[in-house]
Amino acid sequence: MNVAVVGLQWGDEGKGKVVDLLAEHFDIVARYQGGHNAGHTVYRDGRKFVVHHIPAGIFHPHVQNVMGNGMVIDVEALLGEIADLEAIGLAWRGRLWVSDRAHVITPIHRWLEAQEEDFRGHCPIGTTRRGIGPAYEDKYGRRGLLMGQVTDGTWRSHVKWLWDRYVRTFGPAAASPERRAEWDRFQAVLERAETYLADCVTQTDIWLRDRLRQGARVLFEGAQGTLLDVDHGTYPFVTSSHCSAGGISIGLGISPRWVHRVFGVSKAYCTRVGAGPFPTELHDEVGQSIRERGAEYGATTGRPRRCGWLDLVALKYACDLNDVDGIILTKLDILDGLPRVRLCVGYTLDGWPVEGCPVRADLLMRVQPIYEDWPGWPESTYGAACLDYLPEAARAYIRRIEEYTGRPVVLLSSGPQRHETAWFHSPDEILRPVL
Ligand code: GDP
Ligand code: IMO
Ligand code: MG
Repeated sequence: MNVAVVGLQWGDEGKGKVVDLLAEHFDIVARYQGGHNAGHTVYRDGRKFVVHHIPAGIFHPHVQNVMGNGMVIDVEALLGEIADLEAIGLAWRGRLWVSDRAHVITPIHRWLEAQEEDFRGHCPIGTTRRGIGPAYEDKYGRRGLLMGQVTDGTWRSHVKWLWDRYVRTFGPAAASPERRAEWDRFQAVLERAETYLADCVTQTDIWLRDRLRQGARVLFEGAQGTLLDVDHGTYPFVTSSHCSAGGISIGLGISPRWVHRVFGVSKAYCTRVGAGPFPTELHDEVGQSIRERGAEYGATTGRPRRCGWLDLVALKYACDLNDVDGIILTKLDILDGLPRVRLCVGYTLDGWPVEGCPVRADLLMRVQPIYEDWPGWPESTYGAACLDYLPEAARAYIRRIEEYTGRPVVLLSSGPQRHETAWFHSPDEILRPVL
């Protein structure tokens, strides 16, 4: 029985906590897309950790972790993450497998992204500036550097070719001493990684298919969120990979038949980092208070996240796109104490009701939300361990989410730590095989 956990919003829904929580029921956690634009927060014995490339299953000693071919990897940052694990005494060798066909992010990708963002002037995407988009461009342009080349030594000639191509394309002025020095540093990192990562870079798709056939249970970990999916998100204000469940098969090299259940993670409100449409965004003190109470600052870049009411139109779109078996709701506790909570249940465009969710950015930017007002709850829901502990108003709020989306809320995260969780069905019931 294999389960996927995907983000249903614009990322940062709490996937890290959820994957860490569920991982104890699985043998393998596998990530299928994205790079270190992700920041997945996990608490372990009260201490906070943020993983960027490495799957959040790494904190369970019995779990094997896969970084799939659909990912893009900043080798220096990955080595830094591994060093952080070592610093807390976490064994990773023999438990972390990197696809030989995951693509390498180079300094050229970061420079190009900075230029591209600057060139967009007053309307940038607001990317993490980690080189993610240009790395995927090189992948699809069929000139990318593969992790397998890093560990088999063929990276040297390829890196030389990439540099020559860069200078030829952008002219000698682009090859400043500063850039050349950074490029040399990049090569020194690859030199180190060649041996250091030699035994964990492998053809992970074959490895994974073998394990699946042997009956291993796999948890698929999504990064970013459905509304940031390059095909199905609010294009062009998206990331450059397939964050929704459709990306799993290609990003890991397994048949979609191996994905038995899909759970989607959503906050009880909405946030977004970077630019792009956000119909329910709050520009008032309520938005500010959600940001402060929810500590809504990016786990990767530290940027303040834009905050707003829960958008059920967009949530239903994401639930339907992924055909989720259930919603995992997080951060309801952040709404505690608000006298009134609002749910967006429809849009108008130029005064006319809109059918469904017009996900294209140019349209979504123009819609007006239609709200339902629901009574808030003065009680604290922080740390609630079961449905019975929730105030009636909070339960009504959850019921409305279920009713609108047509999907059950199967689990409530009531705080950042593992034990701060209310299972609305037993783990067995949620994770048991579908016949
Ligand atoms: P991810 O990218 O989806 O893994 O989410 P992030 O880790 O970037 O951001 C989610 C933030 O919310 C993290 O700081 C988590 O520790 C925190 N968090 C997760 N679930 C809850 C919850 O139920 N309540 C509260 N208060 N914080 C939570
Ligand atoms: P996790 O996995 C939230 C956003 C960026 C920007 C857009 C494109 O932690 O949920 P990119 O650098 O990917 O080209 O930026 O996507 N973004 C995220 N927002 N959470 C993330 O990851 C994100 N990864 C990228 O802010 O708007
Ligand atoms: Mg995050």
